[in-house]
Amino acid sequence: MCGIVGYVGPRDSQAILLSGLARLEYRGYDSAGIAVIDQGGALDMRKRAGKLKVLRDDLASHPMPDGTTGIGHTRWATHGGPTDANAHPHLADDDRLAVIHNGIIENFAELKADLLSLGYTFRSETDTEVAAVLLGHEYRASGDLVTAFRSVVRRLEGAFTLLAMHQDQPGLVVGARRNSPLVIGLGDGENFLGSDVAAFVEHTRNALAIGQDEIVAITPDGVEITDFDGSAVEASPFEVVWDASAAEKGGWSSFMAKEVSEEPDAVANTIRGRVHDGQVVIPELDGLDEIFTGIRRIIVIACGTAAYAGQTGAYAIEQWTRVPVSVELAHEFRYRDPVLGDDTLVVSISQSGETMDTLMAVKYAHERGAKTLSICNTQGATIPRESDAVIYTHAGPEVAVASTKAFVAQITALYLLALHVARVRGSLPAAEAADHVRELEAVPGKISRVLETEQAHIEQFSRWMADTQSVLFLGRHVGYPIALEGALKLKEISYIHAEGFAAGELKHGPIALIEPGQPVFVIVPSPRESAELHKKVVSNIQEIRARGARVIVVAEEGDAAVLPFADEVLHIPLAGPFFEPLLAVVPLHIFAMGLATAKGLDVDQPRNLAKSVTVE
Ligand code: F6R
Repeated sequence: MCGIVGYVGPRDSQAILLSGLARLEYRGYDSAGIAVIDQGGALDMRKRAGKLKVLRDDLASHPMPDGTTGIGHTRWATHGGPTDANAHPHLADDDRLAVIHNGIIENFAELKADLLSLGYTFRSETDTEVAAVLLGHEYRASGDLVTAFRSVVRRLEGAFTLLAMHQDQPGLVVGARRNSPLVIGLGDGENFLGSDVAAFVEHTRNALAIGQDEIVAITPDGVEITDFDGSAVEASPFEVVWDASAAEKGGWSSFMAKEVSEEPDAVANTIRGRVHDGQVVIPELDGLDEIFTGIRRIIVIACGTAAYAGQTGAYAIEQWTRVPVSVELAHEFRYRDPVLGDDTLVVSISQSGETMDTLMAVKYAHERGAKTLSICNTQGATIPRESDAVIYTHAGPEVAVASTKAFVAQITALYLLALHVARVRGSLPAAEAADHVRELEAVPGKISRVLETEQAHIEQFSRWMADTQSVLFLGRHVGYPIALEGALKLKEISYIHAEGFAAGELKHGPIALIEPGQPVFVIVPSPRESAELHKKVVSNIQEIRARGARVIVVAEEGDAAVLPFADEVLHIPLAGPFFEPLLAVVPLHIFAMGLATAKGLDVDQPRNLAKSVTVE
């Protein structure tokens, strides 16, 4: 959710804040704002409802004095609608103090009541302004921003990243985090704060991760980190592996188009360095053999697309490791008092590494003695830091709100995990494991082929379907989560009703939805690799076809059996059963993007959404 950037140093902070916000805008785009302490020592602030462009245009037509200390924010609304007044920064202490915030302050109502009783007034409906006014109150008492900030964060409940600055202390930005992301960028004579490294990656790759319940104070020459009680703490340094250009659109029409084109690289880069002599050895899992031999069950937790990656990967994990696997939505998991123990491995999947539902589920599992392993795409993120181990997907920064390349990278990481654990447990003959490794290594080339041969065709027929009101997706076995992913992607970016079903479930109800002309995508298993399932799916196709459905199949090249029943065929190369999903999802990603584009929608920033969901 909200994107946060802070800067202190010798340079023009407005330009740095605005370019940081441009890179963070995927986190929220309901409103944007910046505050700077200008050369004359006054605090100036500008904020506007709408996307960052509205703020930029406003600043271009009515320039604001510049300064070298500043904070900036791009918002995904929680408390209060997306208005100018509710946009951040929020000011207090006679507008000499500015605060920005990500997260939710759960006890804001009682804090606000206290402040109202002291005579303070409010200009917005936000929980953030309560923190700002409280900070102003404390500042008046102590005259020191860090001291005041510490006493404020200790009183806050909920999840927050807060940044603040005061015009009486130029050259200082303070920040704190609890269950919400904040990283430090270390420059030469300048320092940065950001919700993630995208905020400052164009200026520095030297970063520090801030721990839970810690406060950071940055000045041009230094960084001081303490806990909420004021004791100094050491931060963990890391080098940002993404380069700035990776988070740029280049010549692509959208980030989503760029990221779909990067699906082959996302798979290849996630495999790189993790295969030795035909066997998977994941260096990050070194020393964990005892855990892997001791586990009796695996629970995969995630949300949205990441959960569908989990559902896809679960088939292979169970088959190759012979450990029972269940997959659960993270936000449901901890509300049902699950049975957990030290023989349970909880695998979380999160592109951002910040999804609050997933983070809370990981903490819950950890507290109940389970081992936790995270699959994550973002360095310095919270979920890997809260887990016993991490496997990073190397998909590169994913900027479009709809997840695409991260999805294939997540499935790849799950397969690598399965092969690693299977090797440790001795549950899979080495020759069979080596076959799977070869199949996995062939996936990037096969995805590239799908992109080369099918992209133009899919884009064309998605234009023909621009007026479609509803699309259904069917799949069996590993094709089922792919059907769910196809439906999610479509509804998310083209605002069309879409649903995914297990093909076998059709006649238990959903077939009633089929009427003449109803478009239905069917993921067809390989007739050579999965003959039994293939037959079943072809029968399902006949059932819907008989009722007038317009059938679009994703089928293996050369699958003649399906042709007589298909209105449209999207081909994928031959692959083993577990590897087909990595290919079959690509046409669905292209289709969703093509349809949304045909409808004239912004595929990168769909309405009501944000990239990183840091509230529950
Ligand atoms: C859909 C999508 C979301 C995310 C979900 C989890 O395209 O992007 O469903 O997959 O919000 O996000 P992460 O992976 O960051 O935990």
